[in-house]
Amino acid sequence: MAQIGILGLGTVGTGTVELIEKNNDIIEKRIKERIDIKKILVRQSNKERPIALKDKITYSFDDILDDEDISVIVEVMGGEEPALTYIRKALNKGKHVVTANKEVISKHGNELLKIAAEKNVNLLFEASVGGGIPIIMPLKQCLAANDIFKVMGILNGTTNYILTQMTEQNKDFDEALKEAQAAGYAESDPTNDIKGFDAARKLAILSSIAFNTRVIPEQVYTEGIDTVTHSDVIYADELGAVIKLVAIGKKNEGSVEVAVTPVLLKKDHPLASVSGTFNAIMVEGDAVGPVMFYGLGAGKMPTASAVVSDIMEAVRNKNGNKIYCTCYDSLKVLTPGETVS
Ligand code: NAP
Ligand code: HSE
Repeated sequence: MAQIGILGLGTVGTGTVELIEKNNDIIEKRIKERIDIKKILVRQSNKERPIALKDKITYSFDDILDDEDISVIVEVMGGEEPALTYIRKALNKGKHVVTANKEVISKHGNELLKIAAEKNVNLLFEASVGGGIPIIMPLKQCLAANDIFKVMGILNGTTNYILTQMTEQNKDFDEALKEAQAAGYAESDPTNDIKGFDAARKLAILSSIAFNTRVIPEQVYTEGIDTVTHSDVIYADELGAVIKLVAIGKKNEGSVEVAVTPVLLKKDHPLASVSGTFNAIMVEGDAVGPVMFYGLGAGKMPTASAVVSDIMEAVRNKNGNKIYCTCYDSLKVLTPGETVS
């Protein structure tokens, strides 16, 4: 029995609990151990929790950290702090960590991966990009033989949902955003979705892995969809196009260009038909050519799919999986308009 502690019981935490309960027999067949959720950290004491989980709830992180039986800590709280401190402490204590936190990984992944390598534990973050879409592991493992020179995609479910509702259902921006929040797709501060920061964090993670370099969110040229109006959507349609928030990372002879920006895409472009909370990521490598990953990029169960699969990977590889410890080249990250001399 592999005992785990979960930090957070919101959209993703609840999905993680439900998926483990539902598929524990399948999980046991695949990794020869069942997963036992021993403790769950939450913040608010006055919030209703499922009766079956009442005995597992704790308000103290140390209660989970100091529990010798817990070998895997699953961080699904969100935000930079205290999540970063908790992840760092967990790794230093020799516990495996699974996280869905793109803010922490994009800003501090380098430091945290080094600790994980030193301590021979796993730091896994498949859910941090693309919700349920497998993309981190394929980049690190299945496409590892390639010189990857381009990643391009729709990386934010909330903004894609809003743009789709504006285009196909004639809804206004605020109404569509409220729906995305109610469904649990949006970040706790939806500004991170709307202004493109969430997609920039995800692009920084993908570019760091794909190009073996270190790209941080501040280096990503970032524009959101907050300035896109209903008229823009209609004009785009008249031009035979759609507006999408697209993230692009390109490597070119020692430099990297990274940007998140709304773009007009012709309706026959492969990304134009990616609607609602679906995400898609196109990767181009020198040997494989173009590859496309597509699926639900946000939401309770798709994200839980990635989180629980990472928990299984951590239980399976008890000594830590070194393929996750990226060796960095120092490629120059270009600002928009800058060219390499
Ligand atoms: P959420 O619904 O807001 O849930 C957050 C949970 O964490 C809540 O249970 C909250 O406790 C708990 N929490 C927050 N701060 C805490 C603190 N300081 N101490 C203890 N508990 C704390 O968030 P979510 O949508 O599940 O997202 C969680 C993470 O997954 C984020 O990093 C997000 O970016 C990422 N993610 C989300 C999705 C998605 O579709 N939602 C998809 C991929 C990745 P209370 O219940 O007491 O408030
Ligand atoms: N807020 C994020 C999105 C959640 O809408 O894509 C998934 O990372």
